[in-house]
Amino acid sequence: MTENNIADRLRIAVVIASVRRPRLADPLAAWLERELTTIDWLDLDLVDLAAVSLPMHEMRPGGAAASPIAGRLADADGFVFLTPEYNHSFPASLKNAIDWHFTEWAYKPVAFVGYGASGGIRAVEQLRAVLPELRATTVRESVLIPMAWEHLDGGGRFVPPPGTAQALHATMTELRTWADGLRSVRGGDLAGRR
Ligand SMILES: Cc1cc2nc3c(=O)[nH]c(=O)nc-3n(C[C@H](O)[C@H](O)[C@H](O)COP(=O)(O)O)c2cc1C
Repeated sequence: MTENNIADRLRIAVVIASVRRPRLADPLAAWLERELTTIDWLDLDLVDLAAVSLPMHEMRPGGAAASPIAGRLADADGFVFLTPEYNHSFPASLKNAIDWHFTEWAYKPVAFVGYGASGGIRAVEQLRAVLPELRATTVRESVLIPMAWEHLDGGGRFVPPPGTAQALHATMTELRTWADGLRSVRGGDLAGRR
C-alpha cells in the first residue's frame, strides 16, 4: 500500500469501441496508450473490439456465453471506454460488448474518453444510463474531444488540444480512487447480490 492507502497497482482495460475501417479511434488509442503508460500505478490492457468476434446471435442473458475477452475484462479493476458518438449515442459495437458480459463489469468503475463533433458527450451520457444495470459505476471526470479529426498532424498522429492531457490525468486519478475502493467490495461475498 502507498502512503494514501491506495493499492500499489491496478489493472485498467481500455475498451476501443469503434470497429470501423479506417477509424479515428486508431490515433486516439495510440495517444491514450502513450499517456497511460506514463502512469506508474496501472497495468494497461487495450481491448480492441475490432479485433474480437462477438456475434450478436450468440449473446446470452447475463453474459452466459463464452467470450474471447471475458477473462481480460474479468481481470480488470476498472475500464476506460474510448467511444465516438454515432447518431447521438455510442456505437452498437460497444453496446454489443457490454451486453455480451455481465459479472465482468460488476462493482467496477468506468471512465470515458469521448469524441465527436461535440466531444461525444451524448454517447457518454447514454453510457451512464446503461452501466448501472451491470452494477458498474461511472467516473464523474471525463475526457471529451470535440472535432478530434482537426487535431491530427501530417502523419495522422493525434496532437491533443490544450487541456486534454490534464483532463485525462484528472479522470485517471478519479478512476484509481474508485477502482481501489471497489476492489475490496469485490473481495467480499457478492454471490447473493448477482
Ligand atoms: C454512423 C455515424 C453517425 C455519426 N453521428 C454522429 C453524431 O451524432 N454526433 C457526432 O458528434 N458525430 C457523429 N458522427 C461522427 C463521428 O463521431 C466521427 O466520424 C468519429 O470520428 C467516428 O469515430 P471512428 O472513426 O473512430 O469510428 C457519426 C459518425 C458515424 C459513422
